[in-house]
Amino acid sequence: MAGQLKDRVVLVTGGGSGFGRAAALQFCAEDARVAVGDINPDTAEQTARAVRDAGGEAWAGQVDVSDEGSVRRFFDAALKKYARIDCAFNNAGILGPVGELHQVSIADYERVMAVNVRGVFLCMQIEIRQMLDQDAPPGGHSIVNTASVAGLVGSALLPAYCGSKHAVVGLTRAAARSYGRRGIRVNCVCPGPIETPLAEPLFEQGNMRELMLARQALDRFGTPEEVAALVVWLSSPAAALITGTPVRVDAGALS
Ligand SMILES: NC(=O)c1ccc[n+]([C@@H]2O[C@H](COP(=O)([O-])OP(=O)(O)OC[C@H]3O[C@@H](n4cnc5c(N)ncnc54)[C@H](O)[C@@H]3O)[C@@H](O)[C@H]2O)c1
Repeated sequence: MAGQLKDRVVLVTGGGSGFGRAAALQFCAEDARVAVGDINPDTAEQTARAVRDAGGEAWAGQVDVSDEGSVRRFFDAALKKYARIDCAFNNAGILGPVGELHQVSIADYERVMAVNVRGVFLCMQIEIRQMLDQDAPPGGHSIVNTASVAGLVGSALLPAYCGSKHAVVGLTRAAARSYGRRGIRVNCVCPGPIETPLAEPLFEQGNMRELMLARQALDRFGTPEEVAALVVWLSSPAAALITGTPVRVDAGALS
């Protein structure tokens, strides 16, 4: 489907690593122009450089998605550069502490909710206001949020994370209902465990790796590129009928 996003402007948060970086590179392979945001400006710039090295167009900026002022400054700069947002991948997130609910500090809980929920909310607000002001491209504007399988079922050792990802699924569904008739599709991806810096503490917890693998239908963990491929497809006109849908990409973990 190369070229399916020709000239569209795509914004990616958490673009300095993992799913975000893989998605930025795949969006560029579809001829989109990519605005990369991350709390780490160096890794964001590395992603933008990788896109440009692959012959694509990208710009990078620093953003802490949990901070309203930072989000506003990042979007102002991205819009100054590209003037529109056709697709957004709200993907920045943190895992927070691994442990049961009674062990989690309020500060850790609040940080997880601030990044994973308030971050998605703040970014969606600006994206939607901008999209409502533009003509929709064929297949509609697209927003894809990163939830998780932990947004669909309980996860005993990740209570704050699990609650935050359920909220991402809820925000996704609510926005899909609001804006579907105004040219904006909103979906989320629900990956299973995939080895990225974020998931490292989970993979290193006791025999968690074996337990997580045993729970899956497939006998391997996925890759960031496999999540990115789903995100790009959901953002493309090929997915024009799909909105309000949490899509599992989990090697059959919840099958
Ligand atoms: N890896 C997994 O197993 C897995 C599974 C399901 C869902 N997820 C979700 O996928 C998303 C991406 O995670 P990943 O696995 O690619 O991890 P990652 O650590 O490789 O990437 C996350 C990126 O988000 C950035 N980030 C963190 N806090 C930020 C903030 N406040 N503002 C802006 N950027 C911030 C980090 O700097 C990093 O570049 C997250 O939302 C995560 O919850 C991951």
